[in-house]
Amino acid sequence: MKKVALLTSGGDAPGMNAAIRAIVLSCEYKNLSCFGFYHGYNGLIEDHLLPLSSQLVNAEIKNGGTLLKSARCPAMMTDTGVKQACNTLLKHEIDALIVIGGDGSFHGLLAIKAHWHGQVIGLPGTIDNDLYGCDKTIGFATAVNTATQAIDKIRDTANAFDRVFIVEVMGRHSGHIAFQVGLSCGAESIFSFENYSNEKHDIILEDLIEKIQKQQLNRHASYLIVLAENLWPGSANALQEQLKSQGNIESAICILGHTQRGGDPVPEDRVLATQLGLKAVDALIKGEDKVMLGLSASQLTKTDLNKAVSINKPVSDELVNAHKGPLTHYLK
Ligand code: F6P
Repeated sequence: MKKVALLTSGGDAPGMNAAIRAIVLSCEYKNLSCFGFYHGYNGLIEDHLLPLSSQLVNAEIKNGGTLLKSARCPAMMTDTGVKQACNTLLKHEIDALIVIGGDGSFHGLLAIKAHWHGQVIGLPGTIDNDLYGCDKTIGFATAVNTATQAIDKIRDTANAFDRVFIVEVMGRHSGHIAFQVGLSCGAESIFSFENYSNEKHDIILEDLIEKIQKQQLNRHASYLIVLAENLWPGSANALQEQLKSQGNIESAICILGHTQRGGDPVPEDRVLATQLGLKAVDALIKGEDKVMLGLSASQLTKTDLNKAVSINKPVSDELVNAHKGPLTHYLK
């Protein structure tokens, strides 16, 4: 193996640059050439290649975003797109491809593998932390930190007015961010896929209204609801209207949105990304193929890419249940 290529794909995640840096430094150390493709899989399809050197990437460990840029690439869902991507790899005589991204990005990697002889390795890079085979994905810790800091600020102003706030956090269809952030902010309510269902909507709403009313009448205190995106039918706006119409409760909405994707990576993400970047090059040299690398209980894990994209990683029951009982009994 002589030539390694890499790209970042899907939603960018803080720490992607640290992973790129580690891969490039490791390739140089091991006398391998290293190339990046710009804008995710689009760079492969359109042959947009950049030789990578330690000089170019060394200072990047502290920066959010991704120096290689990212994209969602619908063309990778087509045979033509996948074949064009493979042709670019063949043209440049690339021996191995590392993709830093989420499950959609790994589907792309598997599609490439079906037509191309080179080695492929995935590194888990998404703020959502929804990949099976690793405790944490690159970017999750930073997103949680960013959201926590934002909500702490919201709490200050909410306290000043004894206000109810609905704060929507990202996570696509998983509640890792919602639960981690909700617990770390001491949110009075956390609603995510793990503790909400359409069938129970009315009971959940009734219970919420009762808790808010008690909180406001008995304690004159603020009330924070951390809400996972894509969860509440009609979104945060519908919840706000329902609180007003069914409980005469005024509330304010804050959608944290893409703020959670930006910012400098926290040390935990920098270190995780660096470790995985180094391990990715080692794994390629050992001949590993079609695996996602991760860390679980501080140990390196190798997960078949097919498993990484098909097995769900739920939020642990411990975390979901932690928000019951002692932490919320005073709301009753
Ligand atoms: O997967 C990361 C993520 O930020 C999700 O949490 C969110 O649902 C989605 O990407 C948003 O994607 P986009 O930036 O393409 O709108």
